[in-house]
Amino acid sequence: MALGNRAAQVIYMEEGDQARLGQQDIVLVDAFGRSVSRKRVDNDIDHEQTGKQNHSFYMHKEIHEQPDTVARTLVHSYHLKDQLELDFMEIDRLSIIACGTSYYAAMVAKYWFEQLAALPVDIDVASEFRYRSPLMSNSGLAVFISQSGETADTLAALKYARSNQQQTLAVVNVAASSIAREADMSVQTQAGPEIGVASTKAFTAQLSVLGSLAIQAAQQRRQFSAEMARAAFTTLAGVPQKLEQILSMESQLEAIGNSLTDARDAYFIGRGSSYPIAMEGALKLKEISYIHAEGFGAGELKHGPIALIESGVPVFVIAPNNDLLEKTLSNMQEVVARGGRCILLGDKHSIKACGDDQVECIEIPESDPFTSPLLYVAALQLIAYYAALAKGTDVDQPRNLAKSVTVE
Ligand code: F6R
Repeated sequence: MALGNRAAQVIYMEEGDQARLGQQDIVLVDAFGRSVSRKRVDNDIDHEQTGKQNHSFYMHKEIHEQPDTVARTLVHSYHLKDQLELDFMEIDRLSIIACGTSYYAAMVAKYWFEQLAALPVDIDVASEFRYRSPLMSNSGLAVFISQSGETADTLAALKYARSNQQQTLAVVNVAASSIAREADMSVQTQAGPEIGVASTKAFTAQLSVLGSLAIQAAQQRRQFSAEMARAAFTTLAGVPQKLEQILSMESQLEAIGNSLTDARDAYFIGRGSSYPIAMEGALKLKEISYIHAEGFGAGELKHGPIALIESGVPVFVIAPNNDLLEKTLSNMQEVVARGGRCILLGDKHSIKACGDDQVECIEIPESDPFTSPLLYVAALQLIAYYAALAKGTDVDQPRNLAKSVTVE
């Protein structure tokens, strides 16, 4: 992408390769000094896609692209198990490894694969996984999620898994990336180039791939009939339209974002698959607005974090209508009782069940619990974006961060 419209073709060098560029030719040698030839491929980056168009920041453009990028990724993922020749009956354990936002996609996927497909899942951040000598099952599938496909820790974790006889699957946004090339199988999320440092559309595209795969695993493992699988796909296919609805609530989300400018801290709580979304909401806010933010499993509050609640501190409560709603609302009441400023994200039913006019409510379209992570995160992305905008930070290039972390 960095070569932009300057190069029509690209040669991807392998680890240890060296190249000498002459006026007429290129001489390539491998790590042992042997002359090698490597394939030239077309650099087919669409330059339309890499512009900001009418948006002030890439992040804003990328948030708004999500109805399209999710729809494209879902179409691409519909027959994934056949394209990959995966048999989930033969797999007894999934290990999903990633960093940062991609790790939160892994956390959501753990709920999906365990609940829908009855497939045990281990998740790890790559920087921990690679050094803890994890024991891996002989019939395991190790999945590596990475937008860039170049994250050093994730790549090293992939090499570890391969050396432990795991089948490896990469879920990447850059098809020719190192992680895609190193894995046995790879799937490309159809998010298009993501330029803003804070990951947005890559995350919802990752969830689209993982959700589709979880449905296919559920069917192969006889947890879902063909009809149940079709119904679950139909639910997923409804996500882009609901995302449009959330994006049309921009002015309400902007007002909430603006109201955070004086906050020193902000907290995000959720249960089940809303717990990783709470973590992701906190990460988005802290990385671009520099407001200290943390996400917690709502049930963990009373084990320590509730000591942080003081008058007016913003607490975002991720509360879709599912069987954990009542418990989440009761955790929220514990925050209200200590003077916290609760902002509830929930659907009609959740808001009615909350019934507390001290709580500010953001109404998210009704959805099946399965797809709620894809929806709630979009609202949190916009809130973080507007908080950062109001604070005047460089939204696309936050301090101290790089888009892809190619060193440890
Ligand atoms: C946060 C963010 C990072 C990345 C992480 C992994 O907004 O972008 O946390 O998610 O550095 O990067 P990839 O997915 O490229 O491996």
